[in-house]
Amino acid sequence: MKTLILNGSPRINGDTNSLIRHITSKKLDEYKIVNAYRCDISPCVDCRYCWKNKGCSINDEMQAVYQYIQKCDNILIASPLYFSELTGKLLDVGSRLQTYFCARFFRNEEPIAKSKKGAVILVGGGDGHIDKAYDTACTLLHHMNCHNIHEAVYSHSTNIIPAINDEHTLMGLNSIYDFFIN
Ligand SMILES: Cc1cc2nc3c(=O)[nH]c(=O)nc-3n(C[C@H](O)[C@H](O)[C@H](O)COP(=O)(O)O)c2cc1C
Repeated sequence: MKTLILNGSPRINGDTNSLIRHITSKKLDEYKIVNAYRCDISPCVDCRYCWKNKGCSINDEMQAVYQYIQKCDNILIASPLYFSELTGKLLDVGSRLQTYFCARFFRNEEPIAKSKKGAVILVGGGDGHIDKAYDTACTLLHHMNCHNIHEAVYSHSTNIIPAINDEHTLMGLNSIYDFFIN
């Protein structure tokens, strides 16, 4: 079982990373993590190469991510809330999924043969709502051919209690794991 994890946090020992470590160390066998703040992935510049051609004209680390997307079984998006959204760097990575939209819309092709399961983990200090970020994450998951998506798992009081100590969130991680393997 292969899982792609898109990590939207800049903090190595932050809340998002602690939850990712929890689920990977105990639960997932094979996975690839893309750290939005540390990877060599540029944002889409709307060059429109993919209006007519397969793939993406930008030759960076995203090329390996495209390959992993083809073969993986699950995709997990994990991010802090920034102004009730996914972080900007994660959206930069997400913009590179435009090639999949263009394949379907302009070229009438299905770019990803295998359908996948998806899940979203969000953390926030306690301000605003998670709905917008979850919606955006679901849009990115749809682009990657995930239509079976787990409900949002979140920890939304990290100013008071670290996500890794949030019982409700840890139960949510177990639920994501069960969802992925069944
Ligand atoms: C620029 C910025 C914007 C933020 N916006 C929100 C927000 O809208 N809602 C919220 O609950 N927390 C917000 N936070 C707090 C973070 O989401 C919170 O501290 C989170 O636990 C950090 O996750 P991390 O440690 O995984 O990076 C914001 C933090 C920053 C730096």
